[in-house]
Amino acid sequence: MRIILLGAPGAGKGTVAKLLTDFDGSVQISTGDILRSEVRAGTDLGKEAKEYMDRGDLVPDAIIMKMMEGRLQEPDCRKGFILDGFPRTIQQAKNLGELLSRLQVRLDFVANLEVPREVVLDRLTTRRTCSNPACQEIYNIKTKPAPGGKCEKCGSPVVQRDDETEAAILHRLDTYTKKTAPLVDFYRKEGILRDFVSVSSAETVQAIKRELLG
Ligand code: AP5
Repeated sequence: MRIILLGAPGAGKGTVAKLLTDFDGSVQISTGDILRSEVRAGTDLGKEAKEYMDRGDLVPDAIIMKMMEGRLQEPDCRKGFILDGFPRTIQQAKNLGELLSRLQVRLDFVANLEVPREVVLDRLTTRRTCSNPACQEIYNIKTKPAPGGKCEKCGSPVVQRDDETEAAILHRLDTYTKKTAPLVDFYRKEGILRDFVSVSSAETVQAIKRELLG
């Protein structure tokens, strides 16, 4: 499959993307996860991105596009990809469109995950994430607690993300409304947007699979 998951912070993009990877071997590509790995590794890219991320601002388009041009041409993308958190601006969407036509790749559709604001606020303040960059399993202190604070998959400590202070979360939601929500209309005009009321991730995954099977 070749799809984009669009949705506010906490809409469940990461959760849904991970569940979808067993469908046909498509890879999850989360720009947020890639950036957090760069921050942890202390690379130049990570140092530059960290300032923006901690405030809840978007990392500049040029940095993201350079990163994604390379990533989308890696061999594991041939089977398909699930874009999680990218594109995030109209400029990124236009650049992605140009890149995909150069690579002669067509998107199946853009899945717009719709979740009420009060639900995402609650989810983000209660989310915890595996600290192992290669794992990054998502937990939640209410709905999926990590036993003993350790990841069930790899045993690494499960932590709260640096951008999960209340101020940063509110800023990320505003940034979403201003910069990313316009992509809903952008892709609707292209005729490839599909809306999913995403309260249950498992149901959303089933609905996306049905849409893929046509
Ligand atoms: P990123 O990591 O992409 O963060 P985000 O979009 O804010 O998305 P989240 O990871 O917070 O939420 P999610 O929708 O994946 O939800 P999840 O499944 O985890 O980006 C972080 C930062 O990186 C950005 O702020 C920006 O600075 C930068 N960045 C990244 N990409 C960029 C780009 N393209 N351009 C520029 N900058 C970029 O679920 C959340 C919680 O809800 C969890 O606790 C989970 O357990 C729970 N949950 C999920 N689904 C359900 C459900 N159905 N029922 C109950 N609980 C649920």
